[in-house]
Amino acid sequence: MKAVILAGGEGTRLRPLTLATPKPVVPVVDRPFLRHQLDLLSRVGVEEVVFSLAYRPERVQAVFGDGARVGKRIHYAVEDAPLGTGGAVKNAERWLDALTVVFNGDVLTDVDLPAVVAEHRASHAEATLVLTPVPNPSAYGLVETDDSGRVRRFVEKPDPSQITTDTINAGIYVLNTSTLALMPAGVNHSIERAFFPELLARGSLVRAHVHRGYWIDIGTPEKYLQVHRDILCGRFPVDLEGRTLRGGWVHESASVDAGAVLEAPFFVGPGCRVEEGASLGPETTLVADVRLMAGARVRESVLWSGGVVAEEAQVEGALLGTGVRVCAHASVRPGAVLGEGSVVSPHSRTS
Ligand code: GDD
Ligand code: MG
Repeated sequence: MKAVILAGGEGTRLRPLTLATPKPVVPVVDRPFLRHQLDLLSRVGVEEVVFSLAYRPERVQAVFGDGARVGKRIHYAVEDAPLGTGGAVKNAERWLDALTVVFNGDVLTDVDLPAVVAEHRASHAEATLVLTPVPNPSAYGLVETDDSGRVRRFVEKPDPSQITTDTINAGIYVLNTSTLALMPAGVNHSIERAFFPELLARGSLVRAHVHRGYWIDIGTPEKYLQVHRDILCGRFPVDLEGRTLRGGWVHESASVDAGAVLEAPFFVGPGCRVEEGASLGPETTLVADVRLMAGARVRESVLWSGGVVAEEAQVEGALLGTGVRVCAHASVRPGAVLGEGSVVSPHSRTS
């Protein structure tokens, strides 16, 4: 069994963060996002993974290489032009064996993957889809099932009139690889709009595994902040790198002055410096090499590498990309998303 991770989307809803850093490698607390998915795949013993990429593949390759660093063999199926979610799976076919796990490269979940694979094998389904309940299915793929768990209908991005259930496609599938014969090669097509409806139309057995635990699509700034909150608050368990300090985590190469004001939870990554009189937290991640100077106050935010928050500056409810500098007495307000290298000049406010 091998896995394909669909990671070629442009991440438009996370711009400007994703202009330089594609969504698969945006940091999520202490590791690039796809590392969390690789950790989940390890639980079913998948050692070989194909990353299907279209957007800035070189940045993903630079992080994961051949996979040795993360204990996997990683292959790259790179598209000249985006092939869509179906075409991207087809493009990985040459590396696959009889059974394939497919992941949308932007979902984080604690689904019991071994149970999903075991159910798939036992039921003799052609495909098994993980579904999850959400309050508003219209932004997702709605999946209707019967009482036996057999999938009956798949409606991608349903109109309000088409919403008959709250279970949506969680973006995780187990497929008999032989079903990929239905997919045209080298052509842009959607697994949700074309492949699954086609399987259903042919009468193939497509089954659902409903997951009621943790699940999130990190594709918007709100969800991206949410996933940090969830990890720091323990709603999604991750074994974070670093020692614990007053309810937070501090990487061994970071320094937090004894005179800093700390409110848990928080994560202070490698090389960060939190100086005397700076306030940090709650629910704040400093990814790496971030400096909080005296009187700086940062809460409910995520700051990527190399950021600086200068004297008496404030950051609240914001996402700051690589190397953002918030100058003295400036204020970054909730909802701000600042791209790589932005400078907020002294005394300025973002809204
Ligand atoms: N390689 C490649 N090529 N990957 C792609 C392409 C492509 O052309 N287009 C999209 N992807 C990847 C994205 O990077 C993402 O990881 C995944 O496929 C899904 O694409 P999104 O653009 O994020 O889709 P969505 O979130 O609107 O909807 C999908 O996910 C929902 C769950 O989060 C659908 O699968 C829905 O049915 C589902 O409910
Ligand atoms: Mg998505």
